[in-house]
Amino acid sequence: MNNPSEITVRPARHVRGTVQLPGDKSISHRYAMLSGIAEGSSRLENYSTGADCASTLACMRALGVKWSRIEGPSNTIEVHGSAGSLVAPSAPLDCGNSGSTMRMLSGIVAGQPFTSEMVGDESLSRRPMQRIIGPLSEMGAHIASQDGKPPLNIKGGSLKAIDYKMPVASAQVKSCVLLAGLFAKGETRVEEPLRTRDHTEVALRAFGAELNRKAAGAGSEVRIRGGQRLRGVDARIPGDLSSAAFFLCAAALFPGSQLTIPHLLMNPTRARLLDILMQMGLHISVTQMEEIHGELVGSLQIEGAALHGTTIAGADAAALIDEIPVLAAIAPFTEQGMEIRDAKELRVKESDRIVALAANLRQMGAEVEERDDGLKIPGGQSLHGAQIDSHGDHRIAMAFAVAALRAKGDTQIRGAESAAISYPAFFHTLEELTER
Ligand code: S3P
Repeated sequence: MNNPSEITVRPARHVRGTVQLPGDKSISHRYAMLSGIAEGSSRLENYSTGADCASTLACMRALGVKWSRIEGPSNTIEVHGSAGSLVAPSAPLDCGNSGSTMRMLSGIVAGQPFTSEMVGDESLSRRPMQRIIGPLSEMGAHIASQDGKPPLNIKGGSLKAIDYKMPVASAQVKSCVLLAGLFAKGETRVEEPLRTRDHTEVALRAFGAELNRKAAGAGSEVRIRGGQRLRGVDARIPGDLSSAAFFLCAAALFPGSQLTIPHLLMNPTRARLLDILMQMGLHISVTQMEEIHGELVGSLQIEGAALHGTTIAGADAAALIDEIPVLAAIAPFTEQGMEIRDAKELRVKESDRIVALAANLRQMGAEVEERDDGLKIPGGQSLHGAQIDSHGDHRIAMAFAVAALRAKGDTQIRGAESAAISYPAFFHTLEELTER
């Protein structure tokens, strides 16, 4: 029997249908923040339905930004920009489970003439923040933390531009420094060691800011001048590619599957999953490609086929960081298996995803080798239904719901409610697409 925190997933024959995805989580966060500091109002259609993006909106409200939900099916938010005049929050800014909210918003509040306290839930309180405390302190903010972890007390003020070479490839850190750079005196330069998602750069331009970008080795460098004003935009946020990953991988498990996903984000810094799944044997075609406010969007048609194994390492590990959980969950069903390397960042996500993946795969009877920076999962395995522990992590809960479709017997996902962090309707939609 199902209850809100435990959901049973039964084996399937294939997945078929059309799925409209809620707006991309990464873009929703950025649009909520930028529209909040812009001049004029913004209308954000298909805003993410996840709890993380609601945390960002709640923090913006606490900073004095007025916004409202527009009645209707398309989850539209209207934001009245503060034109950069945020107000001191009267209570701690609660980022919930959302690392993106805490890290990116820190960049904005660091540039304000007041003090903000940023707090998060138990999982967020364990996550590393030194990576943003370092550059923001260099820019002139005064930040107190619990040994580099939340809560953060950020005494903002006038910032100075810096030249920052990021030691870890993280789009959140890059975004944090760029957003602080918007409030700093001078030109801030950020260099990333590997190319990470570029939604902040794309969104800043959509909101009217000028920035310079160029390739730098395997990564990129971005420069932004402080003191620029943003203006609001009306936008429809494209479907979330990292949420689509669960259905793509579900389709990949069954040769008879057929899926259509319209209006999906196709940004090249996010779409590596499509190349990898095609290399693994999935048939994917893209139609109706268009560019909306600088983001590529398209309609995807997918047909399942026999699945080859693969290796994910180097730049791919960074590009696929949010999709590795579901790729690992389908790995035992591939012909040659999967090796995942250079993915140590998985250990500091909403859970230690290397531990959570290895433990749950074993729980389903799979053979798996856990390594410091990844996993090795042999192919050609058959799995049985089991009790899965989501570790309170949305992507672990959803990844194992996908693996459960190919297992023998039923699987119970404990902590299934964590899917609501990014995709509240996930289990409902999965059920609708599944044929037994
Ligand atoms: C995100 C960047 C990634 C990703 C996260 C969202 C973003 O985190 O895992 O889910 O929107 O910029 P890191 O920057 O820590 O790699």
